[in-house]
Amino acid sequence: MDSIQIDAVRERLSEAKKIVVLTGAGISAESGVPTFRGADGLWKNFRAEELATPEAFSKDPKLIWEWYSWRRDIISKVKPNPAHLALAELEEKSGDFALVTQNVDGLHGLAGSKNIYELHGNIWRTRCLECSTVVETRSLPESGLPHCNREGCKGLLRPDIVWFGESLPMEVVTGAFQAVDEADFMFVIGTSSVVQPAASLSSRAKSNGAYVVEINPEKTPISDMVDASFQTKAGDTLPKLI
Ligand code: OAD
Repeated sequence: MDSIQIDAVRERLSEAKKIVVLTGAGISAESGVPTFRGADGLWKNFRAEELATPEAFSKDPKLIWEWYSWRRDIISKVKPNPAHLALAELEEKSGDFALVTQNVDGLHGLAGSKNIYELHGNIWRTRCLECSTVVETRSLPESGLPHCNREGCKGLLRPDIVWFGESLPMEVVTGAFQAVDEADFMFVIGTSSVVQPAASLSSRAKSNGAYVVEINPEKTPISDMVDASFQTKAGDTLPKLI
């Protein structure tokens, strides 16, 4: 790893007045959560784009719940890794800090991060298709589809996750964009930077004058635009920077 680059980024970080961090599936990879577009990204030969849609859920809710039950099972057994913990520590040390994540696994919260914008929802929540009630629940029926427990409602439940083609929750987007607009330092960690609107946040921060640092073992569409790019695992590099 380039120690001159590490020192340069550490210096910028120590001078930063407002830090914003964008994370994607790659930050949880070292905890053991499969990414969506990596070698481990396929589930039963389906791509995320084929499963994470309202159309796929209407056509075959059982299949989609099977996929989410598989992901829930994996996530229930894993722990935050040194990259999640380093970000929680950075928040504690910094005056003004916001964490914007595309992840639905809740690991940032478990690591101790507080000011979190979950752009794509949370895998531990369900939402009723009839009455829209959102509930946090770890337990799902062993067999069959989950249904709403509210008196008088037996609606089908879906994961409270933002799927392709759906709008992101307005208050979350507004908060995340505001944090990006105010930031003078941004980390972009473990995202392929292909899914909008999250993918546009780094160029938005850059055009507002922020210093943008990417950490991702693979080159992405933003790698040539950022101020510093570490082609490494987040768990190796983040603790060295923070
Ligand atoms: P992707 O699976 O598209 O990208 C994960 C990125 O993490 C890749 O660029 C990897 O190179 C990188 N990566 C892998 N291991 C890493 C490590 N140890 N440290 C750092 N980076 C690592 O995941 P996202 O960009 O998060 O949405 O995908 C965006 C959205 O598409 C997801 O939120 C999900 C998906 O479909 C929904 O399901 C609605």
